[in-house]
Amino acid sequence: MSSKRVYIETFGCQMNVADTERAVTRLRASGYDILDSPESADILLFNTCSVRARAEQKVYNRIGETLKKAGKVEKIIGVMGCVAQLEGDSIFERAPKVNLVVGTRAVDRLPEIIGRVLDGEKRASDLGERRLDEGLDISPAERHSPYVAFVPIIEGCNKFCTYCIVPYSRGRERSRSATAILSEVNRLHADGYREVHLIGQNVNSYRPSNDVGLENFTGATPFSRLLRAVAGTGIARIKFTTSFPRDFHPDIMTAIEEQQNLCDWIHLPVQSGSDHILRRMRRGYNADYYKRLVDVIKQAKRPVAFTSDIIVGFPGETDEEFEQTLKLIEHCRYDAIYIFKYSERRGTPAAKLTDDVPSDVKAARFQALSSMQKTIQGRIHKSLIGKTLDVLVEGESAKSALDMTGHSTCHRVVNFSGGHSLAGRVVQVRVTDAKVNSLYGELMN
Ligand code: SAH
Ligand code: SF4
Ligand code: F3S
Repeated sequence: MSSKRVYIETFGCQMNVADTERAVTRLRASGYDILDSPESADILLFNTCSVRARAEQKVYNRIGETLKKAGKVEKIIGVMGCVAQLEGDSIFERAPKVNLVVGTRAVDRLPEIIGRVLDGEKRASDLGERRLDEGLDISPAERHSPYVAFVPIIEGCNKFCTYCIVPYSRGRERSRSATAILSEVNRLHADGYREVHLIGQNVNSYRPSNDVGLENFTGATPFSRLLRAVAGTGIARIKFTTSFPRDFHPDIMTAIEEQQNLCDWIHLPVQSGSDHILRRMRRGYNADYYKRLVDVIKQAKRPVAFTSDIIVGFPGETDEEFEQTLKLIEHCRYDAIYIFKYSERRGTPAAKLTDDVPSDVKAARFQALSSMQKTIQGRIHKSLIGKTLDVLVEGESAKSALDMTGHSTCHRVVNFSGGHSLAGRVVQVRVTDAKVNSLYGELMN
């Protein structure tokens, strides 16, 4: 086969980033070249997200845009990821130029699927299951960073929150074996990675089919045992996301207190402060339950940053119910939040409800929440001035080539002036100035 040049674009969450890394590893091993821009590529791949209507629209716009730029040159076009899994072969009708549809669990088979098209099939699709621990490891060359690596520990979701498409696009929860996870982290450690992010739609729902690899570790749940086991590899920093409130056991905090390399950051999306809305979202907890978790996190022996996702304008959300969300945000004093306007997703239970909160009301609620959070975040950031944070230097700052940037253990963006030779090192930075979304400081060591 002649050398084929592939360009791949990734949308959506870290799971898609990790899938792209696996896909590229497999493609290169099968003799493909991977390019940084679409112009001279023969094969264009789009790894897509479907979580909100806008995310999905963006993908179709991007395919159109890229094809227009390519002009008359024939290219093979492939759609991967969540849109591919959900829409399947109907994508061929909606976007007739598309030749491949590759579901969320078929990424490892990408070379075979492309091969089918190269052998003459006009259209090829694969929406089959993943062979979990069988897949090739990700080659370090294909990771999104030489210092920070994403390590999937669980895929899929069984929660079926009424608004959410993920259980349909990612299928049921499947946990990777602890031995596979630990050997990946050990290898990353040996290859010089400083930080791993254990990722999954709900990491703390981790439930492997057997105990192998965890026998020597204690913990109230398989997830907190896994945390201790990963800490035991000795890698410098471990973060994990996302945590699901109903499955959040306080032992996670005990593990963080015990193990210095488990970072001081928890992402624990609440979605709403109203019990009525939470019930209709089918989140499986109420505001009081969530507040008790907040207490556990805030009482930890070392301070732990915590962040959240909120949906505004869920069907039927009244002004009073939205007020309860504002109150909860005030109570939680989050270190950061991600706010989303409710977006109806076809096939979810909430799609049967009328999306009756007008878009200007959704926009106003978004604004109100965002400005409240800005005030809270501003205050928290001001209080950090004078404090010293451990920062993993990830590269040059986007704003100024004289500055370097990285994340603290509490997952804040920290900029400081320093040389490029610091990249990949964990340094101490004393905070001297604070913006709403980032911190500035001076190098200490
Ligand atoms: N498993 C995680 C969330 C994964 S999806 C959890 O349950 O917390 C990431 C975020 O997208 C969600 O937390 C939610 O805030 C948002 N989201 C999901 N579906 C949405 C929808 N239909 N409309 C608006 N926001 C949505
Ligand atoms: Fe979606 Fe709920 Fe699963 Fe999170 S827990 S991925 S919001 S269904
Ligand atoms: Fe999007 Fe799929 Fe992730 S819908 S958020 S890419 S799981």
